[in-house]
Amino acid sequence: MRVLEQDIDHVLFSEEQLAQRVAEIAARIDKDYAGKEPLLVSVLRGSFIFMADLVRQITIPCTVDFMAVSSYGSGTTSSGQVKIVKDLSENIEGKNVIVVEDILDSGNTLSYLLRLLEARHPASIRLCTLLDKPERRTKPVAVQYSGFTIPDEFVVGYGLDYDERYRNLPYIGVLKPQVYGGE
Ligand code: XMP
Ligand code: MG
Repeated sequence: MRVLEQDIDHVLFSEEQLAQRVAEIAARIDKDYAGKEPLLVSVLRGSFIFMADLVRQITIPCTVDFMAVSSYGSGTTSSGQVKIVKDLSENIEGKNVIVVEDILDSGNTLSYLLRLLEARHPASIRLCTLLDKPERRTKPVAVQYSGFTIPDEFVVGYGLDYDERYRNLPYIGVLKPQVYGGE
């Protein structure tokens, strides 16, 4: 942990701030989905910690499923092309789906994914993202549950990675630009 922390410029959201916000989102989901048994779909890998914390704060019956996508493009940006690496295990037809994501950035990944899932005729579909970076949006995406709006800085930790590292940091921090070849 100490070694990883050397690459962090500053902490954006502490463990306590994350826990507080996750509990608030869970309380809204409890209220909005009472009697509806939502299916929470975690988009791997970035959302795995957020998903695990979120479902433990939800008190109504719910089910979970997982999906993995890769957006072509490397480094700190994604491209318009999205590939399903792992599809859902369950049929979502007639289900009340909540897509759980780590971060909404350009919107490429989620606009593609939401269209794909809508074509499977869920009863409803909503998006829950921990972080939103609206400055970088190129594709409009409607988001119903959003944890924090962040500026255009590359963040890691709490599931989010740079080159697959830093996911295990318990907080969200801004990476030092020199780590990814910035100034
Ligand atoms: P788009 O641009 O398709 O991107 O909305 C969403 C995906 O891009 C990754 N992403 C980040 N990952 N820190 C990260 O660790 C960031 O600041 C960041 N911005 C975008 C992420 O995989 C997300 O699912
Ligand atoms: Mg990622």
